[in-house]
Amino acid sequence: MNQPVLIGPFSQLLPMSGLPLKGSLSDTQLPLIENGGIVVSEGKIIRIGVFENLKSEVDHIHRIEGEQVCLPGFVDAHTHICFGGTRARDYALRNAGVSYLEIAKAGGGIWDTVTQTRKATQAELEQGIHTRAKVHLQSGTTTIEVKSGYGLSVQEELKMLRAIKNANKTQVADLIPTCLAAHIKPKDWEGEGPYLDEIISKLFPVLKSENLAHRVDAFVEDSAFTPQEIEPYFQKARELGFDITVHADQFTTGGSEVAIKFNAISADHLEASTETEIQLFANSNVIATALPGASLGLGCDFTPARKILDAGGALAIASDHNPGSAPMGDLLTQASILGTFEKLSNAEVLAGITFRAAAALNLSDRGTLDPGNLADFVTFPTSNYQEITYHQGQLKPSSVWKKGHQVFE
Ligand code: NIG
Ligand code: FE
Repeated sequence: MNQPVLIGPFSQLLPMSGLPLKGSLSDTQLPLIENGGIVVSEGKIIRIGVFENLKSEVDHIHRIEGEQVCLPGFVDAHTHICFGGTRARDYALRNAGVSYLEIAKAGGGIWDTVTQTRKATQAELEQGIHTRAKVHLQSGTTTIEVKSGYGLSVQEELKMLRAIKNANKTQVADLIPTCLAAHIKPKDWEGEGPYLDEIISKLFPVLKSENLAHRVDAFVEDSAFTPQEIEPYFQKARELGFDITVHADQFTTGGSEVAIKFNAISADHLEASTETEIQLFANSNVIATALPGASLGLGCDFTPARKILDAGGALAIASDHNPGSAPMGDLLTQASILGTFEKLSNAEVLAGITFRAAAALNLSDRGTLDPGNLADFVTFPTSNYQEITYHQGQLKPSSVWKKGHQVFE
């Protein structure tokens, strides 16, 4: 699509632009263009405005039929969709009263998925990512972060990250890879010195040389890595120029402080965050990413999203799609439900899965429908944007557009 094309009209066009990154938002702040249109060229947005006013500016029009609301494509800033096997057994055990941490201690949990992921070939992992990413795309998610972390050796982490890199080439949605080699300590570690020393010296350089990831993550938790244990890993990651993100405060606190200390882009989970951690977010630029899918999968409390926003923090919402704690993987459903329990406005929910989520990935070319951004957008078959969260994920997109191309209808 090299010639500019006007796409529309949309009953309501919500560009999500001009809104603050931090703090609470009310629906009256949402910019909303009635009967809007988007001019697209070479995969990017050139102009947005009232459809009728834009018609004279272009030779080509792609007409949209019926009542449609248009929003930026959703950004899922935290997933683990590269994995082998299933953890349906864990889910049944949890529902029978055994806790996530008890299952992990008994050799299940993350380690179980590590075992199953190691058995999979790189091609099988690629196929799994492809299948899951397609479902996300059809739900309106045009950018998906994908973590490693079920390999837990240099070679197995490389297998995962190469699978993510390859899957990205055949994928409509953009996959943003993250190295999570510090997910838990590998139970079979037999090398000399600590496991993380090997990751730092042997894996980090390959992430750079093969361009496999520019983001590094760790699970900071008593059952994984303590704040002290993780310091050298994040120290080295920072020296090498990786963006840092942290699995923080899921069951116990400590991770948020690590995130602040290492100037992380985001701290994710935060179900256990207290007033102290909430103030840390209010006073920093670290994005607080809520993962309601993990709360729903584990039957735990939700991240204190309302308090984070009221204190002035930046709140993104992601699916955490993974085989253990968050097998559902439906971002819009989960964000809508978080809104119900945490009393979030539509503006806060939608910001959390668009421009605030893009910020959690340090991406400035998406998440709003501003001119110059990627022409990634999603439409819903309604004339009122409030219907989208109201149906809690059951109102499905009528079309999805990636870089100006309609990829799903
Ligand atoms: O974000 N908490 C740590 N990691 C994942 C869970 C991974 C798993 O259970 O397989 C999470 O919830
Ligand atoms: Fe996670």
